[in-house]
Amino acid sequence: MLSPESLSLALVAAALGLSLPAQSTTYGLGRAPKPGEIEMWDIAISPDGKELPRGSGTAIEGGKVYAANCAACHGKTGTEGPNDVLVGGQGSLNTKKPVKTIGSYWPYATTVWDYINRSMPYNKPGSLRADEVYAVTAHLLFLNGIIRKNELMNAKTLPQVKMPNRNGFIADPRPDWNIGGSSRR
Ligand code: HEC
Repeated sequence: MLSPESLSLALVAAALGLSLPAQSTTYGLGRAPKPGEIEMWDIAISPDGKELPRGSGTAIEGGKVYAANCAACHGKTGTEGPNDVLVGGQGSLNTKKPVKTIGSYWPYATTVWDYINRSMPYNKPGSLRADEVYAVTAHLLFLNGIIRKNELMNAKTLPQVKMPNRNGFIADPRPDWNIGGSSRR
């Protein structure tokens, strides 16, 4: 016997042309991912760089990686496009024509590594080895005047790179956005 509440719910559902779903714990779609499959996607690098993998590179090797994989879209020197400008613009953010690049805007070198690792080259994301990502990141930091050409970037040194705009971000004061205290750092 249906209770008055479930009867009226059933009537509403019928009036809307819906069928009430059978009670089940899953939706009967897909399957649980295997551990290896989660690992494949679990590649995010946080600002402190603690997840950075083994490997290393300098701007010396990075120049070659850049020329072969990046220059076609970002320009030979990183300043001329056709796609996003990656070099220069320091000191331009509070002018009428801000130029946002890795050097002028990005607060962490670690998240530059992460971005390149997961999404560049745009037409072949995920194709670079960790050494190549370290090297090309070093090359871009070098072109932006942030590190020296022979400075070795790896899981230890990259998080120590001080980006010019590191303190240019203002913490969101709303308490409900202060999850994990991340904006208090
Ligand atoms: C086929 C063209 C293409 C190639 C090749 C390419 N990129 Fe990009 N890149 C783009 C585009 C388009 C964007 C903007 C993507 C967006 O905004 O979603 C971008 C964005 C970026 C950004 C972020 C810029 C910013 O400040 O927001 C970085 C860093 C970057 N690319 C680095 C690289 C590196 C390093 C390589 C070589 C390993 C590379 N790209 C190869 C097209 C390309």
